[in-house]
Amino acid sequence: ALMLVLLAVMVAACGGGDKGASQQASGQAEQGKEASSGGEKKVLKVGTDAAYPPFEKQGPDSKPVGFDMDIIKAIAEVNGWELQIEHAGWDPLFEDIDKGKRDIGISAITINDERKQKYDFSDPYFDAFQLIMVPESANVTKIEDIKDMRVAVQSGTTGADLAEKVLGKGNPKLKGFDDTPSAVEELYAKRVDAVVADNAVLNDFLKTSGKEGYKVVKDPNVVPEQYGIMVKKGNKELLDEINKGLKTIKENGKYDEIYKQYFGEEKK
Ligand code: ARG
Repeated sequence: ALMLVLLAVMVAACGGGDKGASQQASGQAEQGKEASSGGEKKVLKVGTDAAYPPFEKQGPDSKPVGFDMDIIKAIAEVNGWELQIEHAGWDPLFEDIDKGKRDIGISAITINDERKQKYDFSDPYFDAFQLIMVPESANVTKIEDIKDMRVAVQSGTTGADLAEKVLGKGNPKLKGFDDTPSAVEELYAKRVDAVVADNAVLNDFLKTSGKEGYKVVKDPNVVPEQYGIMVKKGNKELLDEINKGLKTIKENGKYDEIYKQYFGEEKK
């Protein structure tokens, strides 16, 4: 046991401690292996866009925390992995996975056909749908109602796709932002009339932002979505382990425990 502790200390020392996020991100995400008690521990680089509570946000030490982080940590525990979880940003995350700079993307990512061309996804781990956030007085009951409004979205999301379908590509009334909080800020500042984004996230804004006078609207005709954990296309070995871990935590109650912590008894 003493040998192990010594070994761990040496490994930590050689690792150089806490590098800046950008520096780490520029390194190759070679699935590193570290010597441990008789076996090898896979070290995996996990990326997220840590501006999407309750799924991910920057924790007190600027390390991402949230539902997604707890899920991937639980999966890592099943598989005996060590994780390096970093904020990457939304667009960079997709690039990083594609280039092999990061191994795993978990960021409330909706599984869709377009993304499946380029990436592989785990089994679904969360059900979601789009909501329209508007001032309480707004006359909006369905997605078509935002057609002539100024709308803010996070660029490159399924919410952006949906808004674009209604407003038309290149419509100057449709404003894209790098993250969702910026889109919601635009609504609070009255520079747009609506935001389209995922249900749990907009509900979280309603609950926690302290801003009065806003509501979310669900159009039952909009196709529901499911989140998946994303890996580089063809990385079957990793995907199989992720799915195995997901299955295990769904069976052993760990998933439910995490779910309750973030969403209470709300139905899945
Ligand atoms: N589910 C939506 C999508 O996949 C939005 C996800 C945005 N996630 C984030 N962490 N910003 O397009």
